[in-house]
Amino acid sequence: MEKLTGKKSNTAVFISGRGSNLKSLIKYSKSKYSLIKIKLVVSNTINAKGLNYAKKSKIKYYINNYKNIAVSEKQIFKQLSRFKIDLICLAGFMKILSEKFIKKFKKPILNIHPSLLPKYKGLNTHERVLKNNEKYSGSTVHLVTPKLDSGKIILQKKIKVLKSDNVKILEKKILKIEHKLYPEAIYKILSNL
Ligand code: GAR
Repeated sequence: MEKLTGKKSNTAVFISGRGSNLKSLIKYSKSKYSLIKIKLVVSNTINAKGLNYAKKSKIKYYINNYKNIAVSEKQIFKQLSRFKIDLICLAGFMKILSEKFIKKFKKPILNIHPSLLPKYKGLNTHERVLKNNEKYSGSTVHLVTPKLDSGKIILQKKIKVLKSDNVKILEKKILKIEHKLYPEAIYKILSNL
């Protein structure tokens, strides 16, 4: 990455849980290579551990319990407008955004998924990879489209699956590469806009 100047993209990171990718994005946003400013963290649960990273860095956060998708998305959209968000990064966000929401936002929405897409879309990727004795797994950052885990791939990183790997070990290895991959993918997409 080289240092680029210019206005940074106002970014919202959507989470549901642990938030280790959020943590790495906050770190990236503070680096000299950063093309983003994280203005808002959105969570669909009050119990998301990742909210602590937002609090620590004094980033505004917004919790919506998603009782009714249509209503929730409208409320979230209001927040995105309020903070003039021009990039959304889904980071372990376990809700599916509606087609209406994606079309209305009009700006890039990125997602990170713990598999070598187009293989292993959806949930429980590590379990399925191990069960199928795959030689490789990895992570993918892609653009979000109405079709789940199917948008244009921005970056992908592959690792070897070892015989000794179990779900926990594989998850840990993949998270480690995700923490580098997501900032690189953001840089790639924003430096080409
Ligand atoms: C990450 O591995 C991410 O790729 C995955 O959830 C994890 C979140 O971890 N996302 C999905 O499975 C989306 N379908 P984190 O909360 O520590 O960032």
